[in-house]
Parts: sequence; structure tokens; C-alpha cells
Amino acid sequence: MNTINHVAIIMDGNGRWAQQRSMPRWKGHEMGIQAVRRVSEAACRQEIPILTLFAFSSENWKRPAEEIRILFSLFQRYLVAERQSLIDNDIRVSAFGRRDRLPLFVGEALSSVEEETGSCKRLHLRIALDYGARYEIVEAARALANEVAQGKLDLEQITEEGFMRRLASDGVPDPDLIIRTAGEQRLSNFLLWQAAYSEFYFSSKLWPDFEAVDLEEAIADYRSRTRKYGALACAAG
Ligand code: IPE
Ligand code: IPE
Ligand code: MG
Repeated sequence: MNTINHVAIIMDGNGRWAQQRSMPRWKGHEMGIQAVRRVSEAACRQEIPILTLFAFSSENWKRPAEEIRILFSLFQRYLVAERQSLIDNDIRVSAFGRRDRLPLFVGEALSSVEEETGSCKRLHLRIALDYGARYEIVEAARALANEVAQGKLDLEQITEEGFMRRLASDGVPDPDLIIRTAGEQRLSNFLLWQAAYSEFYFSSKLWPDFEAVDLEEAIADYRSRTRKYGALACAAG
């Protein structure tokens, strides 16, 4: 049976959830936050050490300003309202992605929750916010190029490990399982480097409908798979 250290979820389908009910799209985002709460608690119960959630992509800036504004204010409200329960549940929260384009009130709420939950150990809840994998990879390349230009690094010293250390996920193991909801089957610029050997699970459920049992099913499915990493099944690590 496969062990599981890291689950990543592309939370998709909030808009469709609302549209199906003739509600404004933000209602779907509001219900999506309830799902974040349910699924993080389920991840704790399932003893998953790391849960990464894709909350806002670098391409989501293309959406109407009003939707973006509501998304960020829902997100800030979640951080403030959940603060105590995150601490009580021993959940450490951290965000990755660009910080410089986030509204100030989101950056501030994030920094304080990151600080207050910094020593929590049961679950590491990572939130990808204004995150795009291509940008992350280009930034890592830029950091390496800069070190080479300054004479601090030789070209021959550029390795996969060294490259990995310059990614936002430095120190975090690659996701074992990537779940995407709402029936879409694509990465949408999420964790392109880290997904090299991730297992994928696609759920037709819209994110606001995703329950603890859906996470359990995805994990059970993952556990039954054979991971080979290019080797033969019996030799796989
Ligand atoms: C996911 O739901 C949330 C974000 C991308 C912020 P969507 O808003 O993409 O929902 P659909 O895909 O329009 O249904
Ligand atoms: C991916 O969902 C981003 C997040 C879940 C935050 P999108 O709804 O933005 O992706 P596309 O546009 O359908 O590929
Ligand atoms: Mg979508």
C-alpha cells in the first residue's frame, strides 16, 4: 500500500455550483470555503501531514475585478474566523505564490496566521495564492542565472536538486496525489515541476460539494495504485 505524505487539490467548480442554483458566483466561493474547512479537518483525521490547496492562480487575475475582490475578502474572512480553530486543531497555515500583487489586507491576514500557527504540527495546510508554476520555474532559473553571473555558482553545479531548492516548495516533498474537482482534467499551471510523479485523481463533484468521504475515496484509490517511477513494479520505491 502506498504511503501518503502530501495531497494537493485543485479546487474547481465554485462558479458552476452557484450557476446551477441561479446564484451569483461568489456564493459558490463562499460555499467553497466551507469545503476547505471540511477537507482540512478530514485530512487531519486521515493523518495526512501536508495538504496543498490551489486557491487563486496567476491567471485568475483575468476574471472580473468584482469577483476577485469578493474572493480575496472571503479569503481574509476565512483566515480571521478560522484562526483559533486552526490553532486548536494544530494546523499550520502557509501560503506560497506572489505576495506583491495581493491586496494589503490579505497579505496582513496571511502573515499573522502564518506566524500564529507556525509551530502547529498535525497538518501543514499550504495555500497557493497568486501562484503560477511557470512563473515559479522562471524565478528559480533567474535565481540560478544570477548566482552564475555573480560567480557564486558554476554552470556544471546546476542540478535538479539545486533547482528544486529555488522553488517555492523548497523542503516540501512533491505531492503524492493531486485531486481536481468539477470534472476538469488539466493542471492549469499548478505545480508543473512537482507533479512529475504525482498520481492524479479527477472527481466530477463540484468543489463546494466535496465531502470528507470524497477525500477518503481519493486516498483509497491512490493507495491501491502501483507507483513505479520508471522502474519495474517490484523494484519501485
Ligand atoms: C474555483 O472555482 C475557484 C477559483 C478558481 C478561484 P471556479 O470559480 O473556477 O468555478 P468554475 O470553474 O467557474 O465553475
Ligand atoms: C484553476 O482553476 C485555479 C484554481 C483552482 C485556483 P480555473 O478554473 O482557474 O482553471 P481553468 O481556467 O478552468 O483552467
Ligand atoms: Mg474553474
